[in-house]
Amino acid sequence: MSQSLIKNIGLLVTNNPSLGKTELGLIENAALLIEHGKVAWVGASESAPTAEKTIDAAGKAVIPGFVDSHNHLIFAKDRAQEFSARMKGESYTAGGIATTVAATRQASDDDLLANATRLVHEGLHSGTTTVEIKSGYGLTVKDEIRSLHIAKQLTEETTFLGAHVVPSEYKGKADEYVDLICEQMITQVKPYAKWIDVFCDKGAFTTDQARKILKAGVAAGLKPRLHANQLAQGDGIALGVELGAASVDHISHFNNGDIELLKKSKTVATFLPGAEFSTRSNYPDARRMMEAGITVAIASDCNPGSSYTTNMGFVIALAVRDMFFTPEQALWSATKGGALALERDDVGHLSVGSRADFVILKESSYIHLAYRPGVNLVDEVWQHGKRI
Ligand code: NIG
Ligand code: FE
Repeated sequence: MSQSLIKNIGLLVTNNPSLGKTELGLIENAALLIEHGKVAWVGASESAPTAEKTIDAAGKAVIPGFVDSHNHLIFAKDRAQEFSARMKGESYTAGGIATTVAATRQASDDDLLANATRLVHEGLHSGTTTVEIKSGYGLTVKDEIRSLHIAKQLTEETTFLGAHVVPSEYKGKADEYVDLICEQMITQVKPYAKWIDVFCDKGAFTTDQARKILKAGVAAGLKPRLHANQLAQGDGIALGVELGAASVDHISHFNNGDIELLKKSKTVATFLPGAEFSTRSNYPDARRMMEAGITVAIASDCNPGSSYTTNMGFVIALAVRDMFFTPEQALWSATKGGALALERDDVGHLSVGSRADFVILKESSYIHLAYRPGVNLVDEVWQHGKRI
């Protein structure tokens, strides 16, 4: 059926301030008409048009589907023992990436696709209707191509992260690996990737190496984004702004200069609270960014090392409880903020013409996402106008 009316929505979050109250564009007692996978009408329930099919939301809240803009889903095996050791006092250095690279290279295409599909579905059932997926556990021309080929079967938002770490066979020869990325990988992964990303950090790639890789990617038609300052303060944020990156992610460390640069740019600041949680690290002061008027997103960073969750409700709870986002800021950052971090204007909000991607919650307010942590509050997920 191509037309559905969701009526009797207790509280609808549109993320379109011209449709309702506050930045969240809130409408009480609302209705949403869906046609051919898109939103066709939004407004008060009592003035809703009739439709072929009507669904009664019984006073529950409806929010835009989550836009999870940062994930590493193409990998084999997990690193539960590493997590356990961390919880007994070890610190996170990203050294475990090599373990996952070895496992991923040995895995079959079918196994990698099955694992990534499982994780995408896990996220979808917890309300994530748009997901970004990075490569970065292959680190050979062949393994990066197949990682992105698999990712492309699951999402349009695919990111080439050949510059995740320097693989062991290039130990001491990082610049040679950078050349391999620039001269061979980029052109060959291009058919399967929209974005190019670099882990620009202590122990990973230097700012100069990251600049060279990102510029080569941009010259080939990929769009830049980057992992910056997860482990230490560096120039990653400045580099992201310099290159017009859509987003700088992690940013567990930043200084006043970084804030000034971001303020003057369109680059989104993406926080990944699941990584701080799972590596038992200090949370960055995201409020300073928000107070400066910088666009902020939050994402799950699902990966087997630093943040093995696909649940954006949990990420919202962390952002609210531990990073002092208001429930409104956290919900916006997980939806509209994520969409901006992926340069998408068709998702992350519910306006006429936007994609009909939304979640009917089991509760009457989005506040419950942080207020009832660990509880499945998702009643129904709709993607492209269809109930999942
Ligand atoms: O985003 N920072 C680098 N990459 C991942 C971690 C990858 C891993 O530990 O396997 C991240 O946290
Ligand atoms: Fe990451």
